[in-house]
Amino acid sequence: MFNKRIKIRQLLAEEPNRQGVTVMGWVRSFRNNQFIALNDGSTNTNLQVVTTLGKFEDSLLKRITTSASLKVTGTIIPSPGKGQKMELIADNIEILGDSDAEKYPLQPKKHSLEFLREIAHLRFRTNTFGAVFRVRHSLAFAIHQFFNDRGFVYLHTPVITASDAEGAGEMFRVTTLPPDNPPRTAEGAIDYKEDFFGRATNLTVSGQLEGELGATALGEIYTFGPTFRAENSNTPRHLAEFWMIEPEMAFCDLEDNMNLAEDFIKYIIDYALTHNSEDLAFLAQRLAEEEKQQPLDKRSEMGLLEKLNFVRNNNFERITYTEAIDILLQSTPYKKKKFKFEVKWGIDMQSEHERYLVEKHFKKPVIVTGYPRDIKAFYMRQNDDGKTVAAMDILAPGIGEIVGGSQREERLEKLLQRMEEMHVPADDLWWYLDTRRFGTVPHAGFGLGFERMVQFVTGMSNIRDAIAFPRTPGNAEF
Ligand code: 4AD
Ligand code: MG
Repeated sequence: MFNKRIKIRQLLAEEPNRQGVTVMGWVRSFRNNQFIALNDGSTNTNLQVVTTLGKFEDSLLKRITTSASLKVTGTIIPSPGKGQKMELIADNIEILGDSDAEKYPLQPKKHSLEFLREIAHLRFRTNTFGAVFRVRHSLAFAIHQFFNDRGFVYLHTPVITASDAEGAGEMFRVTTLPPDNPPRTAEGAIDYKEDFFGRATNLTVSGQLEGELGATALGEIYTFGPTFRAENSNTPRHLAEFWMIEPEMAFCDLEDNMNLAEDFIKYIIDYALTHNSEDLAFLAQRLAEEEKQQPLDKRSEMGLLEKLNFVRNNNFERITYTEAIDILLQSTPYKKKKFKFEVKWGIDMQSEHERYLVEKHFKKPVIVTGYPRDIKAFYMRQNDDGKTVAAMDILAPGIGEIVGGSQREERLEKLLQRMEEMHVPADDLWWYLDTRRFGTVPHAGFGLGFERMVQFVTGMSNIRDAIAFPRTPGNAEF
């Protein structure tokens, strides 16, 4: 058996006395031909491996270069040196894979996040991305735990679909038709009847519509899968491929929905604070250093850990869209004409507005309800005022919108009317409408953008650093 190794994270948690220990990992550095800093990805803390002078051939020592992979067997002792609790006195070193240090792109110096994005295949080997991806994993695990504990059913909704759940037309087409010479209809349009599925299909923008089908039978479901948006947004908060968590609950109104979303966010933050304290402490330090480069007024008032604790321990602010607009109209940046985009009732709030509300005005996450119906999707429940819908967005400091959700329109007539007004084809969505025909119930749900959550928890300022291989306009490398 090859894999008789102990992970460094586990080793470091134990008493520093142990014989016959095998570890495997990649060399981070090799100092004085004597001290190897070995990392195996289980933690950012390297294991100090000691190559006692004279014990190993020079030809072997020469091959211990940055990022070479090693199998080391030896004895763990308390470290006499400063900086580490224990060290591994090597008895045997096997080079599993050589690494040409001259050509290795990650030099032992600080690299910019932009540069690391260009070598995303190797950036996992840095402390920053080691921490980010372990935290990302933890958050994913916590999400399943949260819903499982509450009896939600994990529903896998399709990735390929013929419908546009959000009605925003930001879809990637899926087709097997020949691009240079597709079959045409008599009118000259591309004839999707000849296509693989016998109709036009695209990658899903949201699993919500199918989620509603599940919820109106299973009671409470959630999805957690990749979603795709062909919006040409080159921002630090948009991806063309991102992961979304979409719970959907029968017998649930907007307030229940908000309560669940708030509990959910607090739960997963708590999980990360409890299980990833070392990585979060590292990321907090990283962020503090990054912010030192910024002018004082651009720096956050709280450190990363402080912010996470604050969000976990305090209630989110809850306001209506109308109140939000009033606050913006009263604000200093509005009066001083500092907002780039217009402010008036009816606008789709821009990132600058959302950030003013959470970062400057309330200084905490804010749940905004009752948006104008004209800027929201067809499925949202219409309020009695005839102007607004039972929508809720959660805005988070540094991120802006992190959750979008609503109570759904469960009344068939009202839904049909809204679909017609918004040119959503009712014929195509016959299956969706059936839930309103056969035992319709008040129900609600929301979508949390996973990468935005990862950004929030890790303090990474660009969403491209919250997913392993970001897909953005003009970029699908790796
Ligand atoms: O607000 P959105 O578009 O809502 C929906 O898709 C609903 N069907 C959700 C539901 O009610 N079940 O998207 C939900 C969340 C946003 O709040 C945001 O966090 C994230 O998904 N999101 C994106 N994340 C990264 N890149 C993008 N291009 C995103 N678009 C939305
Ligand atoms: Mg939204």
